[in-house]
Amino acid sequence: MWAGRHVVVGVTGGIASYKSCHLVRRLTEAGARVDVVMTRGAAEFVRPLTFEALSGRPVLTSLWEPDRALAHVRLGREADLIIVAPATAHLVARLAHGMADDFLTALVLAATAPVLLAPAMNDEMYAAPPTEANLANLVRRGFGVVGPERGPLAEGHTDRPGRMSEPETILHHAIRLLKRGSAWAGRRVVVTAGPTREPLDPVRVVTNRSSGKMGHRLAQAAWYRGAEVTLISGPTSEPEPIGVQVERVETTAELKAAVARALPGADVLVMAAAPADYRPAGALDRKRPRQDGPLNVAMEPTEDVLLGTKTLRKTGAVIVGFALETGEATEKAAAKLVRKDLDLIVANDALEPGAGFEVDTNRVTVLDRDGGRHQLPFGTKAEVAEGILDLVEVRLG
Ligand code: CTP
Repeated sequence: MWAGRHVVVGVTGGIASYKSCHLVRRLTEAGARVDVVMTRGAAEFVRPLTFEALSGRPVLTSLWEPDRALAHVRLGREADLIIVAPATAHLVARLAHGMADDFLTALVLAATAPVLLAPAMNDEMYAAPPTEANLANLVRRGFGVVGPERGPLAEGHTDRPGRMSEPETILHHAIRLLKRGSAWAGRRVVVTAGPTREPLDPVRVVTNRSSGKMGHRLAQAAWYRGAEVTLISGPTSEPEPIGVQVERVETTAELKAAVARALPGADVLVMAAAPADYRPAGALDRKRPRQDGPLNVAMEPTEDVLLGTKTLRKTGAVIVGFALETGEATEKAAAKLVRKDLDLIVANDALEPGAGFEVDTNRVTVLDRDGGRHQLPFGTKAEVAEGILDLVEVRLG
């Protein structure tokens, strides 16, 4: 994502500027060319030398250096992205009023690159009406804003927002700013992921090998593209995708209820979950004791969640199903596409090395309702997610 990108990191005078060192480090490690621009206040907290060492490039602090005339205009046009972290209340006010009285504000005023602000300030300053109005003004003008978050501030603990977002979170929002596309802005996407767990008794469950990786990558990728994303996930150890609203479920019945709540009005449904097709009939409310001889457990069918959404789908919504098979994957998937009335179905074969459950890679063929077959290249699940969303995007128009 970052290799070959040119990023300007603007640093202003807040205590959170120590975290900006890590941000610059992460960007350079990921292959970005980083130019750091510091305000006078920033240089009171962290020395320019620190950022020079981390970025491997000279740090820009003043408009008045003889050999850097017009560097602020050039940088704002050449960069792929500008991140201001931390953005103090004072900097936010100066940007909102179009001021250009130092290198950073002049650069942002002349910039054609997208700008992401990571505000950090005292909680009262953040809640103050002028700050609120200034930030709203900048958002209207297309600036991206990440945070501030609740948590300890320099002056003590508060549960009100003020603290700068962590560098990792800032990076996720930066990716979204770079990747967002007009096809996805304002779109609501629902993704399901992971296995379900059907209880036998209070301590034992029937489940499957789904890891939730594919669904989690899809949810993150849809958010990067600019959508509002709800992820309904069965039990997994995957970290929650950034920016995505996550709802946890256990059983197929809970998954069905959560999908029914989230689906009305959604533009896209991606059913990457592997819901159990059967559950133990009459789960016990006490632990089942060991007994001699074999144990027979009657299983009853669960509902087909995807089939049940037919009446809830918004007209024109793009519905994507998955088919994990063990042999003849595309033929079986084609039949499921018709039976479940889908726009796309993602077929993969659990017996193929590097594909299916529990691994980080996948090899899939996507079938569409018009008879098209799209073999996506073998790749990480994040790469495969991008390929699937490209096909969804075509149908979104
Ligand atoms: N699915 C669902 N509800 C279920 C089972 C599956 O909504 N109870 C969804 C899955 O999320 C997937 C699609 O249906 O998107 C196909 O799932 P799969 O398990 O391959 O198909 P089944 O219809 O269960 O058919 P079979 O198990 O016989 O292959």
